[in-house]
Amino acid sequence: MSYEFDREEYSRRIRWFTDARFGLFIHWGLYSIPARGEWVQSEERIPADEYAGLSREFDPAACDMRRWMEDARAAGMGYAVLTAKHHDGFCLFDSAQTDFTSVRSPAGRDFVREFLDAARAAGLRAGLYYSLIDWHHPDFPHYGDRNHPMRDNPAYSNEGRDFGRYLDYMHAQVRELCENYGKLDILWFDFSYDELRGEAWRAGELVDMVRSLQPGIIINNRLEVSGEGFGSLAECRPTPWHGDFVTPECIVPPRGLFDAQGDPLCWESCVTMNNHWGFCAADGFYKSAPMLIRKLVECVSKGGNMLLNVGPDASGRFPERAREILYEIGAWMDKNSDSILGCGPSGLEKPEFGRYTRRGDRLYVHIFDNTIGPLPLYGVDRERIASVRRLCDRSEVPISKSWVHSDYPELAFADLGPDPMLPDMTDTVLEVRLK
Ligand code: GLC
Repeated sequence: MSYEFDREEYSRRIRWFTDARFGLFIHWGLYSIPARGEWVQSEERIPADEYAGLSREFDPAACDMRRWMEDARAAGMGYAVLTAKHHDGFCLFDSAQTDFTSVRSPAGRDFVREFLDAARAAGLRAGLYYSLIDWHHPDFPHYGDRNHPMRDNPAYSNEGRDFGRYLDYMHAQVRELCENYGKLDILWFDFSYDELRGEAWRAGELVDMVRSLQPGIIINNRLEVSGEGFGSLAECRPTPWHGDFVTPECIVPPRGLFDAQGDPLCWESCVTMNNHWGFCAADGFYKSAPMLIRKLVECVSKGGNMLLNVGPDASGRFPERAREILYEIGAWMDKNSDSILGCGPSGLEKPEFGRYTRRGDRLYVHIFDNTIGPLPLYGVDRERIASVRRLCDRSEVPISKSWVHSDYPELAFADLGPDPMLPDMTDTVLEVRLK
């Protein structure tokens, strides 16, 4: 029987997600100890049993998930996603399938449960990242695989490895996450490659199980693709395991994302704050808060979300620089979140001075660079302007009557006053209420 895609139900399911627009990604696990990023085991060809030795010292006593969620809330985020298990196979949750978990480590804690409890207490929606890839499991392909730490070592041939047995393990773990932790809002699978995609993961059976246990959950597209590729929903040929949203990685799509019929797709750009997902002590190349604010506006102006990542260290703390950036973003969101939450593309051409976002009859004018003289409201029909207010303080912004723009009667110009230095040099937002 072919899969019947229910567009109505789908739109209902993703509504909170496209309203929230801004979320926190958290990559945390054993790799925080070497502190060289989450791919350290693969990049440095560390055998599983040697790498597993790290679990004997994993005891992040300073980890306080409530503080992490306070930080996310302070940044103006509406949801958070934690790595329950990354490619290294180490689980931050209690699993009957393996002892390679944080509960069996000196930490003795189920961090997934603590995370979900803290997120819900903070009023955040919460999701779990779960790696389809597992470099710890003996039945996952080793020699010759594209990513496995032992991919170059013929001593790790795949003779006797039973991938079906690995899939039973993986499905059983996903069932544990869906059955034992209450309501989940997102399952963030990662990632398909080469022939490992779709039914190679027994994706139809997996998604049936997930959706039966977590009816309202939204699932990303990486049972089909990775950060590259869009998935079957984009092709207008949705498979039963289609992703609910596309996951461009470390990029904001140049023009937004649309399906084969030209209709807008639901998408979320996942973005590192520096250049690593997992904690990397040497990576101090953080994107600034002003840059990330403008990229969040860009995502929303193109109809997408931004999932901004923090990689906590092995003590269980967010890096201080990351917290500073979250709070600086939050200071802007505190005054301007109306121009982000529930907003999307304006349908107008991008203005030269910045970007537009829109929600119903509210057009938000994001001014990144002030203009010389009054600000041209490109594409806005003057007759439809009911009011213009500076969003940060709701003060009135008059429509300019200056002679300097008399040659452009078709355009409405906003009079921002005599001070060329805008109140917020990162992004001063005007709210235009349209008739
Ligand atoms: C890539 C990386 C993985 C990371 C993910 C986040 O798949 O391999 O380490 O968790 O991107 O999107």
